[in-house]
Amino acid sequence: MSDRRIDSIFEAVDLSYDYPGGVPALSNVTFSIRPGETVALLGANGAGKSTLLKLLDGLIFPHNGTLNAFGLALSEESMNNPDRVLEFRSSVGLVFQDPDVQLFSPTVWEEVLFAPLQAGLERQEVINRGEQALELMGIEHLRNRAPYLLSSGEKKKVAISSVLSLRPDVLLLDEPSAGLDPFSQGKLIDFLVEWTGNDHCIVFSTQDLDMVEELATRVLILGQDHTLIADGPPDRFLSDPDFLLEANLVHAHSHRHKNLVHSHIHTHRHSHRHDS
Ligand SMILES: Nc1ncnc2c1ncn2[C@@H]1O[C@H](COP(=O)(O)OP(=O)(O)OP(=O)(O)O)[C@@H](O)[C@H]1O
Ligand SMILES: [Mg+2]
Repeated sequence: MSDRRIDSIFEAVDLSYDYPGGVPALSNVTFSIRPGETVALLGANGAGKSTLLKLLDGLIFPHNGTLNAFGLALSEESMNNPDRVLEFRSSVGLVFQDPDVQLFSPTVWEEVLFAPLQAGLERQEVINRGEQALELMGIEHLRNRAPYLLSSGEKKKVAISSVLSLRPDVLLLDEPSAGLDPFSQGKLIDFLVEWTGNDHCIVFSTQDLDMVEELATRVLILGQDHTLIADGPPDRFLSDPDFLLEANLVHAHSHRHKNLVHSHIHTHRHSHRHDS
């Protein structure tokens, strides 16, 4: 990001996106995201979360409405400008929902070096960044393995590490904790909590309301009609079971307690203990 002082990192006005064949993915979405915010993007399957993250990453472009990043239009035309692309790509990193579409290097080590190399950092800094990114996700032992031969959770960790090694000001994470074991989820959340604040910004999609509670300063919720149905502080929505049920963010299902089978809302929000 340049030194230019900006009020909003992203500004979307009446943003709409349809896939070929007229499949709607986003409909008239308006919001603005400021530096320092950690935004959780929520919604049922197919609501448009991944599409919105790809738009914010400049991989696809709005069909209607406008989307600005750092005060400039994020459009096909502006992303054809080499200086603009360089500045944007060194400021914004996206971890895809599916690591198979992200990973391409012959080894994990090369994968985590790619972004800092592309950013033109000097050799020792590139190596330091790579080492720290491996350590962060606890995948040093995978360094010489081929990404495409890893387990799905291992691939997800490599995908996260390969974006974190860039240390972008803006981190876009598409369901980052999905498929990670509890230890790795904890490490990721520790890192992200520390990373937030300053002028950094995180936008992450998730189905995990615990992660929202632990990390987010704000939630954006997409409805099944692909419109934005909520925008505000997490507490306002997480404490409203009727709203969560309506938005398909919690569910009521049958389950067994010894010999009794009954049904009620499940949020899967965990209890936790403070040792001090
Ligand atoms: N490449 C594509 N071609 C056509 N339609 C697509 C494509 N990708 C997504 N869609 C459709 O666009 C809509 C939004 O999809 P998107 O992947 O953004 O949802 P999502 O909220 O990320 O869902 P999930 O929770 O399952 O990851 C869905 O109806 C989906 O079927
Ligand atoms: Mg998705």
